[in-house]
Amino acid sequence: MSSILVLYGSYRSDRMGIRLADYIVARLRGRGDAVELIDAQAVGLPMLDRMYKEYQPGTAPDAMESLAGKIKAADAFVFVTGEYNWGVQPGLKNLTDHFLEEWFWRPAAIASYSAGRLSGARSNSAWHSTLSEMGMVVISSTLTVGPIAQTLDDNAQPTGEAGKALDRAFLRFAEDLAWWTEATKTQRAKQPPPY
Ligand SMILES: Cc1cc2nc3c(=O)[nH]c(=O)nc-3n(C[C@H](O)[C@H](O)[C@H](O)COP(=O)(O)O)c2cc1C
Repeated sequence: MSSILVLYGSYRSDRMGIRLADYIVARLRGRGDAVELIDAQAVGLPMLDRMYKEYQPGTAPDAMESLAGKIKAADAFVFVTGEYNWGVQPGLKNLTDHFLEEWFWRPAAIASYSAGRLSGARSNSAWHSTLSEMGMVVISSTLTVGPIAQTLDDNAQPTGEAGKALDRAFLRFAEDLAWWTEATKTQRAKQPPPY
């Protein structure tokens, strides 16, 4: 069993991406993993001032300290990414930027979505380089969901042909992430990361 964090970062009152985040959490749990949703809005970090590592040990705000512990303990990450004006959503980027070394040496998967048919592809692409810079191994399998309202209902259940396509794509996505999760777990156990 692996420990996986699913991270999502829209702060909008009428946010839609929570459907995809909830879908991924439920499906990964169905495979037997220990999965936690990290909802940036619920965590409520302020706009970046000091990164976690810039605090003296034991003095970071509680929400940041708690999240740092969860990130360090996780075996893998899934980033659920919406797109605002061809870019990333600020809430998730803000949460992510508070940490650096805490993310290292684990795989990350990207699942993007949007209201239209392009499925957040540009934010998906932007996150790929950001997560690589932050020391994660970004897996090549991805999910691109759009239009999200026609793919998942408000209970995060797949609907229609688009929902079936998502279920099919999820299998490869989850298998790819599981392979890299095992590979990096094994390597971390065999040889501690060099820095
Ligand atoms: C400020 C803003 C900018 C947006 N820009 C894009 C965009 O560039 N491309 C796109 O496909 N959809 C765009 N959309 C539509 C979003 O895909 C859609 O609103 C989606 O539900 C946003 O995710 P959320 O509901 O989880 O916040 C934008 C929406 C907002 C609010």
